Amino acid sequence: MENFDFGIVGLGVMGRNLLLNMADHDFSVAGLDLDAEKAASLEKEADDKHTIKGTTSAETFVKLIKKPRAIMLLVPAGKPVDSVIDSLLPYLEDGDIVVDGGNSYFEDTNRRVKSLAKKNIHYFGMGISGGEKGARFGPSMMPGGDKDAYERLRPIFEAVAAKVGGEPCVTYLGRGSAGNYVKMVHNGIEYAIMQLIAETYDVLKRGFGFETAQIQQLFEEWNQSELQSYLLEITAVILKKEDPNTGKPLVDLISDTAKAKGTGKWTSQNAMEIQAPVPSIDLAVAMRDISKYKEERVEAASKLRWNDSTETVNNEEIKALFKDAFHFGMLTIFAQGMAQLSIASKEFDYGLNLEEVAKIWRGGCIIRAAVLEDFRKAYKNNPELPNLLLDEELSSQILPRQKAMRSVVKIGIGKGIPMSVYTATLSYFDAYRSESLPTNIIQAQRDYFGAHKYERIDKEGVFHTEWEN
Ligand code: 6PG
Repeated sequence: MENFDFGIVGLGVMGRNLLLNMADHDFSVAGLDLDAEKAASLEKEADDKHTIKGTTSAETFVKLIKKPRAIMLLVPAGKPVDSVIDSLLPYLEDGDIVVDGGNSYFEDTNRRVKSLAKKNIHYFGMGISGGEKGARFGPSMMPGGDKDAYERLRPIFEAVAAKVGGEPCVTYLGRGSAGNYVKMVHNGIEYAIMQLIAETYDVLKRGFGFETAQIQQLFEEWNQSELQSYLLEITAVILKKEDPNTGKPLVDLISDTAKAKGTGKWTSQNAMEIQAPVPSIDLAVAMRDISKYKEERVEAASKLRWNDSTETVNNEEIKALFKDAFHFGMLTIFAQGMAQLSIASKEFDYGLNLEEVAKIWRGGCIIRAAVLEDFRKAYKNNPELPNLLLDEELSSQILPRQKAMRSVVKIGIGKGIPMSVYTATLSYFDAYRSESLPTNIIQAQRDYFGAHKYERIDKEGVFHTEWEN
């Protein structure tokens, strides 16, 4: 039997759910997993009209799929991807397509594209966002690389992707590892917005004594406004959840040490590599890292004391300030991530169309938010826009909220409550809007201690000065 439309390797949460999503859309799909239980339990899911088959044998799996084959890998990034490719290779043939649907590092994708091309196998990376539910009922998908191969699979992907206004949240994004790169930056933005929400919660709770229920209500209200976004929505749901044993909000019982799989770190690392400043993402990564040092933090808490010196502000005023500051923060975080994409597109010759990126992020993915529609319009008006902050419509949303952002950051600083992403976001904004920066001093210092030379504003060329008399 060689007639399955599609194959998925890795029947974990994402693989299994995406497979069932495809089956719902009348595609026949074979699944491969080394775990026999996962393979067997998959078949039980099939109802009469769907064709689903699970197997633990790479050979059986490949032979089940009609030629030229379309196979998607949904396995953890790194070595597992290489070993799955190795296990499939003996059975793959000319023209087969392998899609990596995981959070693979973009450089790994570049390497795999090259090595599989030598064997006439089309390989491309496609970031998929939306978690378990997204995979099952409509994710946002970010394919890049081999365009012809993508075109062949387009009908399947468009059928299973999330839809916004009837438009599927999947489109071809660009050359090479563009798909993985866009997903990586998606996750970087995800880290920063999650941290922005967490910091809001922290200041309201620790700084102003808000009850969890009050913060919950606030987030729910914000989510009904122009701030509507998946991350706010789920945080409101999270804050409502009670621990069945104690009746306390469950979040109050969850430890404050966060884990990370690494995509946020990669975003920051590569941003530094290509000199795309994304301080909000850098700080979001740093805050997860600092959360790990629990013991030291406990010790420091008793030694490094600070007595709150800020004046009290009434609750209604505080809520209004935070709403505006959060709005400012969200837009300015996106501005950094999108600017990184614009720089990376040139650096890696991806040929990204940022309007399309904004379009497919409007639904299905973790960072979906109402503001994405505005970003889409901004890039439609000017596809070469280097930074969303320069778009007139967006700057008209940001500027009136500047004062609130400054007040909120001042409050956090006064109270000694870390607001790393708020602060970094405001600093980014202030640096970006500074016609002149103190980097002249940096140039002079480098020249002083290392004879690195400097440039001047009044004449062309490079100069060195003997700074000591
Ligand atoms: C998504 C998520 C998804 C996953 C991250 C979590 O878009 O669906 O981003 O990719 O949940 O891997 O990342 P961390 O473990 O690094 O927080």
